[in-house]
Amino acid sequence: MSKDLKLDTLREEASDCQACKLATTRNRVVFGEGNPDAKIFFIGEGPGRQEDDTGRPFIGRAGELLTRIIENGIGIPRSQVYIANIVKCRPTVDMKMEKDRAPDKEEVAACTHFLESQIDIIKPKVIVTLGGPSTKFVLRTEEGITKIRGKQGEYRGIPVIPTLHPSYVLRNGGDKSPLKRDVWEDIKKAMAIAGIPIP
Ligand code: URA
Repeated sequence: MSKDLKLDTLREEASDCQACKLATTRNRVVFGEGNPDAKIFFIGEGPGRQEDDTGRPFIGRAGELLTRIIENGIGIPRSQVYIANIVKCRPTVDMKMEKDRAPDKEEVAACTHFLESQIDIIKPKVIVTLGGPSTKFVLRTEEGITKIRGKQGEYRGIPVIPTLHPSYVLRNGGDKSPLKRDVWEDIKKAMAIAGIPIP
């Protein structure tokens, strides 16, 4: 079976998943998107409002920053990488769905088999985890993201570079934040592993 077909089958399976309580509040399952042969696989935390409305990952403000990092920094179209989250449905603090939160343990436990299968199918050269929750899951660590960022780890033989979540950068100065430089340093490490020339 081709990678495309495998991913389509998995997407279909995720589309009516009822394995955790987020199924009762979501509008759309946000499976993930990108090149099935991507060298770099970005992993975020969970969908926000715009992602839940459209079914696409990282299309809100944080997504715009991530897209700039990919297209202006790495220098490839966003469609050439793969982007997904550890949970596929939007975690919010209440049923009114006004405020986002990090996914809880049960949600992560119920959902991450989808992410594991996506990684298994795509077999990227490098994984970049964005923020604490995805880093904790992928690297099985309890270490905080500000300490662990930039330190290469491994997931089932695939190199992993943890970096800061774009939302965190935006909350701490955005485009003018020195944190952007930290993220860029981490991304360059990922590019080197993936064999992408650094400008
Ligand atoms: N933040 C995430 O972690 N993932 C998204 O898809 C959007 C915002």
